[in-house]
Amino acid sequence: MILGINSQNHDASMALIDGPNILWAAHSERYSRQKNDSLLDRDMLADMRKYGEPSQIVWFEKPWPKNLRRLYSGQRPWRVDPKDELKKLNLDHLPVEYVYHHESHAAAGFYTSGFSDASVLVVDAIGEWNSVTIWQADKNGLLCHYKKNYPNSIGLFYTAFTQYVGLKPNEEEYILMGMAALGKPIVADLIKKDFFDYFEGPDFKLKHNLHNGCRWWQAPEGVSKFDIAASVQQIIEEYLLNTVHWIYHNLPSDNLVFMGGVALNCVANSKIAKKGLFHDIWIMPNPGDAGSAIGAVAALQKQHLDWQGAYLGTDIDRDLDIDGIVNKLLEGKVVAVANGRAEFGPRALGNRSLLCDPRGPDAKDRMNAIKRREPFRPFAPAVLEEHTKLYFDMPVHSSPYMQFVADCKRPDLLPGICHYDNTSRVQTVKAQDNPKFRALLEAWYKASGCPILMNTSLNIKGEPLVNSWQDAERWELVNGIKVY
Ligand SMILES: [Fe+2]
Repeated sequence: MILGINSQNHDASMALIDGPNILWAAHSERYSRQKNDSLLDRDMLADMRKYGEPSQIVWFEKPWPKNLRRLYSGQRPWRVDPKDELKKLNLDHLPVEYVYHHESHAAAGFYTSGFSDASVLVVDAIGEWNSVTIWQADKNGLLCHYKKNYPNSIGLFYTAFTQYVGLKPNEEEYILMGMAALGKPIVADLIKKDFFDYFEGPDFKLKHNLHNGCRWWQAPEGVSKFDIAASVQQIIEEYLLNTVHWIYHNLPSDNLVFMGGVALNCVANSKIAKKGLFHDIWIMPNPGDAGSAIGAVAALQKQHLDWQGAYLGTDIDRDLDIDGIVNKLLEGKVVAVANGRAEFGPRALGNRSLLCDPRGPDAKDRMNAIKRREPFRPFAPAVLEEHTKLYFDMPVHSSPYMQFVADCKRPDLLPGICHYDNTSRVQTVKAQDNPKFRALLEAWYKASGCPILMNTSLNIKGEPLVNSWQDAERWELVNGIKVY
């Protein structure tokens, strides 16, 4: 058994893998209760041990190139030496291999895709040095065809503007994406002129190192934060679409794998899918650094993993009172569910979820009374897959991990799950995705005639998702809402 580790990357994680089987994978923050915890956690390690004992460790990132780049960019080397961190957890007796950052992203994507061959695009803020890489993947492994290095970085560009509009960099990029629908891209050309020497796809050159943000930039008077968000989103989409065109014309595969933190941009993902250049697209549901706990092992093993879904974390092994939940939903109540294994990745997909009837004008307000999130942000729908086409114009057949947005055909009926541009971040649910959640949706459909539930993460704003049953009981106590 091999333990993959991602640490000191603003969302530490571990994955225990036995040959092709992913036995367990989890985020530190869910155990330490520190949002985006960047270091490993003892309780996380104890949870891992329920699934086996590793004989080897693979560490995501090569220490020397990373430290060299950190020194170059004016940062200190490792905050904690990996060996010291392993010693603290009594793991220092195990042999350790180190693998490259972008190769791990590419391996996480390709080896969970099920594709026999693929073109792999990785776009993030910074690896050791890489910020964009393009790979050809097949039975011979991964061959890098293109790379762009720090300080040129599309991910850093997006993060710099996340900070510019007053959001938290490396954490709230998804809010910048959400803000884009409320603005107009009226400064896209100006931003491109001010920030890029040239801008093609995949090639580009930034005029400035954006590692410390771009707060010095002066937006023209009268331009709102939402217009800036729309402009930056348009630039990202243009870059990605140019890049996938380049891949389509220069690499042989019909399949595309997209990885790295930028692959969390579900609006851009949908534009790529709608282009229809590729027969199939796979984005591993945890495409950022946390997912590379799996990717590091995949990069070492160079063999396909048996991907069974994103439910890989802490297990809450309890019966689910489906009738009780449906009755509460019929009363118009918000229902909390903490059941089965926790999702590995940023989205709650039914096992650590808050659910309610998505119909009617007040659905969003009922949910927001608990979630207290920005009023402009919509909630996501979970839909019985076979009913999806009635309500949504999907860019892909299935979307079990909420990685794509779809045009909503019934914004009149479902305002709480529609954004200002009438799109929804859809989760399609088949029996094999999650049998219990599927059974709950089916029972809700039978009782209500509606095959959709509003689905958002079971947490309090600013806190990580509920992980254990103890967390669920604390959540219940704070919110006065029963957790099922
Ligand atoms: Fe990364």
